[in-house]
Amino acid sequence: MKKCSYFFDFLISHAKVYGFIFPSSEIYGGLNAIYDYGPHGVELKNNIKEFWWKSMTLLHENIVGVDSSILMHSDVWHASGHVDKFNELLIDHKDSKKRYRPEILIQEYVKKNFLNNPKKKEEILSRLSQSLEKKDLGDIKVLIDELCICDPVFKTKNWTDIRHFNMMFKIKNGKDLYLRPETAQGVFSNFHNIVKSSRMKIPFGIAQIGKSFRNEFIARRFLFRMREFEQMEMQFFILPEEEIKWYEYWKENRLKWHLELKLGDKTSYQLCDHDHLSHYASAGSDIEFHFPFGFQEIEGIHSRRDFDLKNHEFFSKKKIRIFEWKKNYIPYVIETSLGLDRLFLAIFSSSLKKEKLKNGKIRIVLKLPYFLSPIKAAIFPLVRKDGLQEIAKKIFHDMKIHHRLVYDEKESIGKLYRRQDAIGTPFCFTVDYDTIKTDTVTMRNRDSMEQKRIHIKEISKIIKQETGFEKVLKKLYHFILFFSYFSL
Ligand code: GAP
Repeated sequence: MKKCSYFFDFLISHAKVYGFIFPSSEIYGGLNAIYDYGPHGVELKNNIKEFWWKSMTLLHENIVGVDSSILMHSDVWHASGHVDKFNELLIDHKDSKKRYRPEILIQEYVKKNFLNNPKKKEEILSRLSQSLEKKDLGDIKVLIDELCICDPVFKTKNWTDIRHFNMMFKIKNGKDLYLRPETAQGVFSNFHNIVKSSRMKIPFGIAQIGKSFRNEFIARRFLFRMREFEQMEMQFFILPEEEIKWYEYWKENRLKWHLELKLGDKTSYQLCDHDHLSHYASAGSDIEFHFPFGFQEIEGIHSRRDFDLKNHEFFSKKKIRIFEWKKNYIPYVIETSLGLDRLFLAIFSSSLKKEKLKNGKIRIVLKLPYFLSPIKAAIFPLVRKDGLQEIAKKIFHDMKIHHRLVYDEKESIGKLYRRQDAIGTPFCFTVDYDTIKTDTVTMRNRDSMEQKRIHIKEISKIIKQETGFEKVLKKLYHFILFFSYFSL
């Protein structure tokens, strides 16, 4: 645990020093669980979004996009069930004034104290599960009392009763408005417009990337649990009788997508079926990733059936239906819902390495997948004299509209390499005295640190081939074709 928190402190500091993530409003003391993306952070984040967007809307000709507003009519949230049911359990500690989720308090207590008593552990967890199922808040409180669970800091048991806490942020603007807690409702409420304007036929999907907001009262682990975050969601509308087929397809598709990021091997991921379903879901599965603090959810795949469209039909009194093959019906929905910031954290934490070099020195290197790196290549002059700067600047300016590059001459070549390692730049090209004679430069690879000479004319082709999206998109496309061949 100590090792993990040391690594996490190092990660947070690295993210700030190298312009990836800054605490929001830092000059005013910051804001709990809200973060800003710096110059390199925004590039990495945009690359992740582009990869997801292309994987959805380029590789599947039956998935289209939408960008709906964050503020929506408040009836949307009554229809979706979020006003009544988007709640977490909450318990306050009267001495420390801290808030906790009671089920987490119990789970963590049991994990720590009944390590050698699996029977007791099982018994308590099953009682907790039953109480959660029955929504018996009284019994959960009794469990906390029976186990004598104390506040971790004050070591006292001065707890309030357990109550429900709605996770939506409410804005007073004459009428109540809500900051959306998921992007999905923007898809459901635009369903009719999209079907009509894009002539979509079942099965088809609608993808959206956008901000969501949740009033997380226990916000921790950096980007893992934030109050303002981004989601990349896709709602796939299907025939009701094809629910299982598409639910299984999207679980497999999304796992394959994560594996193509090469953040680890198959053992870095696990698919877990939900024990407690969200109020809208009739089946749910999480893709969990092995973060530095253990396996945790990174993406949810849900079957929402006709829950949302049916409720919107009822609340809006408008027909939200598909008319196809002489049938008139409300389609079912399979949803894939990925947290962009959570994925950013997964990518950043699994790429950040401290490596011991042959000369005994340590280098810090961010081994990002090449196609996601914020900067694709750096161009340096070996020294700032004898016309080397001019040649390096010309190479940079000739290529800068094709690739995201940097030109740097501010430090010695060794320090320039280290800086690019730290931000994850896959290639550095150095102009030296041989460049004047042979039109060649030194190409240095981030991961192997190997250097070789290549002709100036080859630079752009190498950057495109090695750092573009095409290679990885092609692999995913093969998977999609394979599935279509056997199932459709
Ligand atoms: N539309 C369904 C939905 O929102 P969810 O399981 O509540 O489902 C989906 O959220 C994903 O959104 C999660 O797997 C996670 O990656 C991300 N997410 C949820 N709450 C988050 C938070 N407070 N901070 C960062 N990411 C979050």
